[in-house]
Amino acid sequence: MRAVRFHDHGDPDVLVLDEIEPPEPDHGDVRVTVRAAAVNPVDTYFRTGEYEPPELPMIPGTDLAGVVDSVGDGVSEISEGDRVFATGLGSDRLGTYAEQVTVPADRLAHLPADVSFEIGAAAGVVVGTSWRALVDYAALEPTETCLIHGANGGVGHVAVQLAATIGARVIGTARPPYHDQLESLGATTVLDYTRDDLAEAVDHAPDVILETRADENLQFDADVAATGARVICIGNATEHAELTAIGAAKSKDVCYQFMTLFNAPDLSAILDRTASLLERGAVVPAIARRYDLDEAAEAQRAVMEESLLGKIVLVP
Ligand SMILES: NC(=O)c1ccc[n+]([C@@H]2O[C@H](COP(=O)([O-])OP(=O)(O)OC[C@H]3O[C@@H](n4cnc5c(N)ncnc54)[C@H](OP(=O)(O)O)[C@@H]3O)[C@@H](O)[C@H]2O)c1
Repeated sequence: MRAVRFHDHGDPDVLVLDEIEPPEPDHGDVRVTVRAAAVNPVDTYFRTGEYEPPELPMIPGTDLAGVVDSVGDGVSEISEGDRVFATGLGSDRLGTYAEQVTVPADRLAHLPADVSFEIGAAAGVVVGTSWRALVDYAALEPTETCLIHGANGGVGHVAVQLAATIGARVIGTARPPYHDQLESLGATTVLDYTRDDLAEAVDHAPDVILETRADENLQFDADVAATGARVICIGNATEHAELTAIGAAKSKDVCYQFMTLFNAPDLSAILDRTASLLERGAVVPAIARRYDLDEAAEAQRAVMEESLLGKIVLVP
């Protein structure tokens, strides 16, 4: 089978397409013929060595969707021929940029019949992270205001949809070309994050903030937050983040929660909820771009360097 691998750490060009033996499912695993795999920023952190992969050569990739072609011992609720989607791969085991991938049965769920493989693959990390942030950690309520930073990004554009589905007032930050589309996805207001008067432009103090750039925005978040706000920090571009004046955060009882989806106690439960959202059309990732497996380097370069609305997928 074809698999994208990196044999050493480095820039995107270390990704090569290798011909290797298909993996056999261990106890508790199924093997999936991959129909689509998403490209997420985290995939690149393992490639550069910022995060340590479990082995080299390593297959990158966290999310997939496809058809089960072999079932290991000890798996009872998944059968050959089932359409499934999965997440949480490519960190403690090989990833998803391949034609066949073994997946622990507790990191996948059935993909609803009317949902495409591309949308299923695109959903894993981004809907799961939005769910953990807005539902599990923030307990966002319909009467509240939710601010989503980077609202056009992979996580941001589904978080906008999830917050709107919950019934919250949704403020997104994104550059102007994306404003109309984000409003059609459920944002009440979209503000350009580069404007100098961004804090003054936030017309409803957010009760919940989904923070994709904690290195830039921690102080801004405290300054605009409502009393009792929950700021859920999922992303950063550099390691340093700080509050320059703690008064606003202290006087408003602002709670900062940092998180990673990889720590979720039950990924299949989150994927089951994601399947329900996809089936109802309540939260649907947008596919911004498709690449073949042999274009994985270009796809990883794009996910880090280009501005898009939605997700990049690899289609083997
Ligand atoms: N903790 C977790 O479990 C978890 C899960 C998923 C993702 N993440 C992390 O979360 C971050 C976002 O992931 P993603 O998949 O959504 O990435 P993405 O698709 O690349 O989106 C990044 C978004 O951030 C925006 N942005 C850039 N600078 C900003 C600023 N100063 N203020 C506000 N927004 C800004 C970008 O806008 P432009 O398009 O204008 O550049 C874009 O909308 C990444 O760091 C990723 O590693 C963490």
